[in-house]
Amino acid sequence: MLRQNISNHLRPFLMLLGGFVIGFCFSQQLRSSNCVFRLGLPNASYLDRVEEYDDHVELIQNEEILQTRISNTDENRLAAQLYNETRVLCWVLTSPINHAKKAIHVKKTWGKRCNRLLFMSTETDDELESIKLPVKEGRGNLWNKTREAMKYIYDNHFDDADWFLKADDDTYVIMENLRVFLYPLDTNAPVYFGCKFKKWVRQGYMSGGAGYVMSKEAVKRFMNTAYPNTTICQNGHGGSEDKEMGKCLQNVGVVAGDSRDEHKRGRFFPSGPQGHLIPKDKSSWYWRYIYYKTEDGLDCCSDYAISFHYVQPSYMYVLDYLIYNLRPFGVFRQNTALPAKRNMTELLEQWRNDKSDNPV
Ligand SMILES: *[C@@H]1O[C@H](CO)[C@@H](O)[C@H](O)[C@H]1NC(C)=O
Ligand SMILES: *[C@@H]1O[C@H](CO)[C@@H](O)[C@H](O)[C@H]1NC(C)=O
Repeated sequence: MLRQNISNHLRPFLMLLGGFVIGFCFSQQLRSSNCVFRLGLPNASYLDRVEEYDDHVELIQNEEILQTRISNTDENRLAAQLYNETRVLCWVLTSPINHAKKAIHVKKTWGKRCNRLLFMSTETDDELESIKLPVKEGRGNLWNKTREAMKYIYDNHFDDADWFLKADDDTYVIMENLRVFLYPLDTNAPVYFGCKFKKWVRQGYMSGGAGYVMSKEAVKRFMNTAYPNTTICQNGHGGSEDKEMGKCLQNVGVVAGDSRDEHKRGRFFPSGPQGHLIPKDKSSWYWRYIYYKTEDGLDCCSDYAISFHYVQPSYMYVLDYLIYNLRPFGVFRQNTALPAKRNMTELLEQWRNDKSDNPV
């Protein structure tokens, strides 16, 4: 209430301040870190400071301040075609304490590029338009929340999309790259994609934080065969939602697909861009979990990367600007055609026999 009043009276002031927050963010980055110039990448101390801006991110109440400027030019023709031909329903797993802190910033940034956007929570919220699922709140209930989210989607929105993407409220997704990856594939094939981990589930499972995308057939099998049968798909004892989803889908013959690009670079990432780009010691969990042989540095990530995780609210707006507005003059590569459709029988066969090429 109070926030609403303040925003009505002080809107022009807040708009200006919001602009300063972002402007300040960039000027700080440039002033105080030589690394930015040498590597062309943010350094650690800059990244620590990103959190400071999250204290101000509430001020971004007027979407116009940070509305990305995408014009309806010929350059965007293919993206517009993809939007209509490869429809993606995005659903974001969130909770009441994160509605205003995190989820709303998904809605104002990448979420608006989904064909449909649903926030799965345990409370309704007028601004977020979240869905109140019939489950208890809390980390231990994330798997039940995911199960009920799937049921809600199947019952209410199954015809609204060709593919179904699950994301967290701190995941950032480049929707156009997701669509162009899915475009050659057939959603009637039992398959799902994400950042594939090799632990716990024989065929591997997809990281929940990096987001995973399920075909129509995968959703159908989950709801018709896995969801109702607790032998195939448990619902009694919590567990992490991504691992449980991996087991249930494997049990109903949904293949854990390979979403790497032609250079064997990943597209879905369980950390932020800096976490993958900047070489670090390889002792962290990521290197023990990742299914395929993987590099760090610039070879970490596809030029058509789809998702990153652990993205702070303020950084979502920064990424929106870097990805959709900032252009290096004269070097922008234009895409001229959509990729050819693929034979799913062959691909599924290949992915089914896919062995982790990363030694345990
Ligand atoms: C549940 O799945 C198990 C294992 O496939 C099967 O044996 C059982 O008949 C199923 N139960 C029902 C009610 O369909
Ligand atoms: C999940 O839901 C089922 C069915 O409603 C319930 O029996 C079970 O206790 C719940 N699990 C947890 C961990 O709350």
